Amino acid sequence: MEIKTNVSLKTYNTFGIDANAAFFVEINSVAELKEALQLDLYPAKFVLSGGSNMLLTKDIDALVLYVNMKGIEVINETSEHVILRVMAGENWHQMVLWTLDNGYGGLENLSLIPGNTGTAPIQNIGAYGVELKDTFHQCEAMTIATQELQVFSKEDCQFGYRDSYFKGIGKGKHIITSVSFQLTKTNHATNTSYGAIEKQLQKEGVKKPTIKDISNAVVAIRQSKLPDPKEIGNSGSFFKNPVISLEAFKKFQNTYPEAPFYKITETSYKVPAGWLIEQCGFKGKRFGDAGVHAKQALVLVNYGNATGQEILDLARKIQQTVRDQFDIQIETEVNIIK
Ligand code: EPU
Repeated sequence: MEIKTNVSLKTYNTFGIDANAAFFVEINSVAELKEALQLDLYPAKFVLSGGSNMLLTKDIDALVLYVNMKGIEVINETSEHVILRVMAGENWHQMVLWTLDNGYGGLENLSLIPGNTGTAPIQNIGAYGVELKDTFHQCEAMTIATQELQVFSKEDCQFGYRDSYFKGIGKGKHIITSVSFQLTKTNHATNTSYGAIEKQLQKEGVKKPTIKDISNAVVAIRQSKLPDPKEIGNSGSFFKNPVISLEAFKKFQNTYPEAPFYKITETSYKVPAGWLIEQCGFKGKRFGDAGVHAKQALVLVNYGNATGQEILDLARKIQQTVRDQFDIQIETEVNIIK
């Protein structure tokens, strides 16, 4: 393990924010992770992997552990199912493509989500009617305080909408080292109910979509709406869609009958934050190098040299405007590092 000093993190976070790490070490195995956590010389540790869901607003005065262990392994198999163990540093989309190439179904709707596999459970990534929890089997994580590996079942993870144990009471306590998924080999339970997927498949003239067809449709939709972090820095949806009470929703719908919404339960409704932000006039707006994506208002972008603080200032301005106009509080989905 080589410990580097004063390393720019610009290429390690998809927002492309140029913050520096005081110390930096790349971790390629569970043994190295244990070793790095025991380095008393650098008491403050900061865990980084795909860097796709964070906004760095300052330099990191700590030892950055760049979790990069690789490997995909079939650990159990029947004629119908397969259980795969994927190491934390595997790129999410490359891993999804690997499962599709092997004929395994379940992750196709989650194609092209940026980031690495190890961080996917933290916010229970989701898109187009499917969430990570739907195929999640278990994950292994190292407890930072004891350097011991612990297995977390689906129940232990307490998955919710862009939420889990690892974002709540487990925050900062563990480092996920691998994630296992249960995928189908036959009779794939495909989900094409999401309007945009149906439309895309229709456009392509696909009547009986295979898992690969669905993945291709999702890739096409994402590419048409979401900026590629390799071209314009971003972290996907910057905000979560707010969930509001029935009472608040009724009031909202009275004033804005045209607004899209999803019913969650009898007493709670989800309103698309992208719609709220667009109504406030932010869509496509640019403030220096910080901006709101022109095709999806939920995504904040870095046109080149924005600082994390500039992106954060824009986010706060958006939250305030949405609050003033709609009396709805939108929360960030991205992890703000302050
Ligand atoms: N909308 C607007 N203006 C916008 C954006 C959206 O009016 O600028 C409206 C759309 O017309 C639609 C509704 O809002 O009626 C929902 O839009 P969309 O289907 O694009 O999805 P979203 O709710 O904005 C969520 C996820 C995305 C995921 C898509 C598709 C969250 C925070 N975001 O976005 O996830 O890809 O659904 O399933 O739940 C991510 O988490 O990083 C992410 C990209």
